Amino acid sequence: MTYSHSHLLGIEPLAPPDITAILDLADQYADLNRRDVKHSDALAGLTQINMFFENSTRTQASFELAGKRLGADVMSMAMQASSIKKGETLIDTALTLNAMHPDLLVVRHPHSGAVDLLSEKVNCAVLNAGDGRHEHPTQALLDALTIRRAKGRLHRLNIAICGDIAHSRVARSNIMLLGKMENRVRLIGPPTLMPSGIADFGVEVFEDMQEGLKDVDVVMMLRLQRERMDGGFIPSEREYYHRYGLDAEKLSHAKDDAIVMHPGPMNRGVEIDGELADDINRSVIQQQVEMGVAVRMAAMDLLARNLLARRQAQTGVMV
Ligand code: NCD
Repeated sequence: MTYSHSHLLGIEPLAPPDITAILDLADQYADLNRRDVKHSDALAGLTQINMFFENSTRTQASFELAGKRLGADVMSMAMQASSIKKGETLIDTALTLNAMHPDLLVVRHPHSGAVDLLSEKVNCAVLNAGDGRHEHPTQALLDALTIRRAKGRLHRLNIAICGDIAHSRVARSNIMLLGKMENRVRLIGPPTLMPSGIADFGVEVFEDMQEGLKDVDVVMMLRLQRERMDGGFIPSEREYYHRYGLDAEKLSHAKDDAIVMHPGPMNRGVEIDGELADDINRSVIQQQVEMGVAVRMAAMDLLARNLLARRQAQTGVMV
């Protein structure tokens, strides 16, 4: 099975075999990452540039580590959000970087669609590390790998995504991926945090946690994305925690072996109880971080193979 695309801009353009190809290779990289010597030469000689126009801890660190473990020359540029002057500046930056001949460009940007635009202007493989409230494909892929390893399959599961759906690129990418792999997705949250027209995505929408969590296999909690809110979407954090914060009592409505997920950064006592987040019998939050490195290694490896094959076809010369 192969991954046939030039970029990884979102889950939307992917077919189930593309997703499976990434997850299968990521499983192998997860094994490599548990060894003492964690090194492969899959990206040796290639240059990876990380451009994060928005803050990130996990995603940036894991893309950097992924590139280094595969032998790439990795450079991370700290782009301040304040330096973005929209459109032209972004494209100028892209052209400047393109002149340095990168092979892989990893981009996080606060504007939805910015990464797609950038991919049209450069000659390398582009990976979307999160664009506005649009997509965060590697997060959905690492979530999928975590689920597949915990549950032994990635189809016909009942999965609840809870909280601030409206502002979440993680939710959008996950809804698409889990739907493509034939799972039943439920969204749970207050109506103010539900995007309009969401039922068209083939999901079930619930306002009540107890009802929505009934018999689910997976509970995915989301952070309140305050930086994307311009007004009062919730009465108060205390009230929100009372109604939507995941604790042992609310989780008791899910299946007995249901797993708890969170993409991080986590706000303990707002969307999730701190003790539950640390409960290794239920929470797979640390596994998600571990799978993040493996999935990013797999995605960059597959994209680099396609890039080198394309270049070879263009020039007729081995590269
Ligand atoms: C998410 C993001 O940045 O979209 N975090 C992440 O990548 N792990 C979710 C969030 O910020 O809440």
